Parts: sequence; structure tokens; C-alpha cells
Amino acid sequence: MKSQVTRRATLGLAAAVPALAFGRPALADPLVIKFSHVVSPDAPKGKSALLFKQLAEKYTGGKVSVEVYPNSSLYKDKEELEALQLGSVQLLAPSISKFGPLGVKEFDIFDLPFLMSDDAHARQMMASPMMADFNKKLEDKGVTPLAYWDNGSHVYTANVPLIAPDDFRGLKMRIQGSKVLDAVARQLGAIPQIIAFGELYQALQTGVVDGEDNVPSNIWTQKLYDVQKYLTVSHHGRLTYSLITNKKFWDGLPPDVRPGLDQAVKESTAFFDDTAAKDNVDALEQIKATGKVQMHVLTDTEKQAWIAALMPVHKEMEGRFGKDFIASVYKASGFVPPQS
Ligand code: LMR
Repeated sequence: MKSQVTRRATLGLAAAVPALAFGRPALADPLVIKFSHVVSPDAPKGKSALLFKQLAEKYTGGKVSVEVYPNSSLYKDKEELEALQLGSVQLLAPSISKFGPLGVKEFDIFDLPFLMSDDAHARQMMASPMMADFNKKLEDKGVTPLAYWDNGSHVYTANVPLIAPDDFRGLKMRIQGSKVLDAVARQLGAIPQIIAFGELYQALQTGVVDGEDNVPSNIWTQKLYDVQKYLTVSHHGRLTYSLITNKKFWDGLPPDVRPGLDQAVKESTAFFDDTAAKDNVDALEQIKATGKVQMHVLTDTEKQAWIAALMPVHKEMEGRFGKDFIASVYKASGFVPPQS
């Protein structure tokens, strides 16, 4: 008769058999990370999300499984931010012009026209120590920014040529949620309308709006050139993303998973930086080659007229952000207002 001790030992061994059957401990289910975004898988953000998936799964040895949901297939602009705060999704890379609903109105300041209208100014701003203050604002809302992905300068598209500031008068223009972008449209005499990116093609097609601004790679991959007649290379603003996660989720990651994910963030950020500018140059060529839109690059004189027309927005926004805060952002970005 087996003693109690022996029986218990035998049972313990039997329970361990399936785990050791294939010569290694049984694997727990992978930790699932949902990464939702609103652009095409072929856009720089879409490609970087897929690279992040590949790297995260590799560097964690399969302990993490990343599900990427492109093209607003899981959530649209505003919903995705709510879902992140609720923990229904773990990664997003929204435009920072959409952070208003999170209660961090400070990010709208980056939409001040011509503030960082070229790569050098954008990189200078995003690398400045000032970003730590902005990051803190997000963390206070339960959101951790893991990286900033700069996607280049905006161009305008519309159904009429946009050469002089007056050409905007009376046009219905789609904007992202930022209050500064609202002020820009109004300053130009246009009627701004916030529309989710996933609804933009249809809104342009059906005439809900007459025009919009975006980066060429989005205009190309969403085929917006099919429903717009004119494109103006104006470089009046910037499209910057923040790769964000739910703070509680990220802080609670198991220690054997976190370094692999940090490395995946680092490498997909480097990939994004290498890809975005090139994709915008290529997209502009591809759009031109379709022959569907008439393209105009603002001359220096025309650009000066746009800057002069839009500087009142900077002044108006002193009421929203404070003169000193605006001055510190000018300094960090290297922007020099005209006549100063
Ligand atoms: C837009 O809404 O126009 C863009 O910010 C979309 C995106 O995420 O690139």
C-alpha cells in the first residue's frame, strides 16, 4: 500500500507530465496587445504598426501577441482615445491635434500655423526638454507617451484652387479636433468642420466638405485625390503622432516582457523616422502621375501672404495658452515670428 506521501508525490508528478511532455514548461496564453489606428496599412503609421507587431512578438519570444487594427476598423478618432483610457485597447498613434478630448488642450499649440512647417523645426521641437511637460500632462490622464512620430508637413486639397488666403472664403473645410485648427479655418474665412479621418473620403465625395489638409502619404493611401481637384503644397502645419499606451497597463507589464516591448518601440520609431519623409515625397509624385488633381507649390511671395494672413491666429491664441507659453514654444521650435 502506498503511503500518503508517495501518493501525493505520484499525483504531483502526473500533473507535471503534460507540462514536460514536449521537453519544456507549458506556455501560458500570450499577452494580447491591441494596436488600433485610423490610416491605411501602407501609410507610414500602418507600416510602423506592423513592424512593431513583428518585433514585439520576436523580442518577447511569443509572450506577447500584437493585433493591429488599421483603417478605423476597431475605433474612430475620438472613440479610440476613450477606449485607451478604459483599457479596451493598449496602443494607438493618433495625431496630437486630436488630444483635446483627453483634457490636454496644450497639445493644440503645435498647430499654430507655420510653427514647425519643416523637418528641422519639427525635430527641434519634439527633441526639446519642454516635451517632458507635455508628457506629464498626458500621464496625469492615465496615458503614457512612448514616442513621437513626425509625419511631415500638411498640404491642402480642395475643389477650387487655393493660392491666396482669400481663396478659402466660404469653403467648408474638414479639420481635426484642435481648437487652433478651428481658428485657422475661421481666420481664412472658411467654415471648419471636425470629421473623423475614417469618414473623410465620403465627406469629400458627397460635398459635406469642400476641402481638407493632410500629408501627401495619407492623401495617396486614402485615395483622396479621387474626390479632390486641387492640391496646394503649403506646408502650413505639421502632422505629428504620439505612440501612446494606457499607463496602468504599461506600468503593470511583467518584467520579462517590458524590455522586448521597449526595444520594439525604439526600432519602429527609427523605422517611422526613416520612412515618413520619403513616403511623402513619393506620394506627391504618385498623386501627380494620376493626373486627377492640379498641383500648385506656393511661391515664397504667396507663402509670405499666407503667413501674414495667419499670424492673427497666433495672437488670438495668447488668450488660450498665455503669451509666455507661446513664447517658450517658439523658442523650443526655433520659430521666429515675422517682424520681431
Ligand atoms: C487626420 O485625421 O487627418 C490624420 O491625422 C490621420 C492620421 O492619423 O494620419
